[in-house]
Amino acid sequence: MCERTAIDVVINNAGYNPKDSVDKDYFMSTFKIERFSGENIARSLNINALAPTELTSKLLPSLADDAVVLNISSWLGSIGAKTGGGHYAYAGSKALLNMFTKAMGLEFAEGNRGAVALNPGWMRTDMGGARAKNTPEDVARAVLDLYEAGTLSENNGMFLNIDGSHHEW
Ligand SMILES: NC(=O)c1ccc[n+]([C@@H]2O[C@H](COP(=O)([O-])OP(=O)(O)OC[C@H]3O[C@@H](n4cnc5c(N)ncnc54)[C@H](OP(=O)(O)O)[C@@H]3O)[C@@H](O)[C@H]2O)c1
Repeated sequence: MCERTAIDVVINNAGYNPKDSVDKDYFMSTFKIERFSGENIARSLNINALAPTELTSKLLPSLADDAVVLNISSWLGSIGAKTGGGHYAYAGSKALLNMFTKAMGLEFAEGNRGAVALNPGWMRTDMGGARAKNTPEDVARAVLDLYEAGTLSENNGMFLNIDGSHHEW
């Protein structure tokens, strides 16, 4: 009989942010109210919020009793800290991911599992561009440190920065 290994951490990292340099018309239809396209914005909602949450749901039977689900969010998903207009697809999808994280965290509160939304900060990736301060390696190290220090488990249902501080919802 083969023994099943439980999953300790799920990191939902894949994300999508439409770029004006790839398709200006598409980008504008996700960014500005004059050009708002629900059909186009749905792609971001699917990739950034619905798919990771559905994946997590499907993984539940394989999660350890004290597993942590880490949803990689963004400062742009914060409603309280929003200062710039528009950006409906990306900001809206990360705000939805934040709500789903909190909802899941409250469901998990009856047990020992945790769900945390994390703002990784500005990273030097395809999305973040070459001018970003942090490398993905730095951020991955910081995430591992948060997990190993127990900070993620202790902050079920919260929205954190990579230094473990709370980000405004
Ligand atoms: N970079 C930043 O400054 C920054 C800031 C705040 C938050 N974030 C968040 O950090 C996470 C990582 O972002 P990143 O900077 O690494 O972005 P990235 O350079 O654009 O990479 C995005 C990753 O997501 C995957 N992906 C996109 N759509 C997918 C789909 N439909 N199915 C499966 N995989 C898909 C891509 O896979 P392929 O390569 O196969 O397309 C790629 O590996 C994202 O959630 C992002 O929103 C990034």
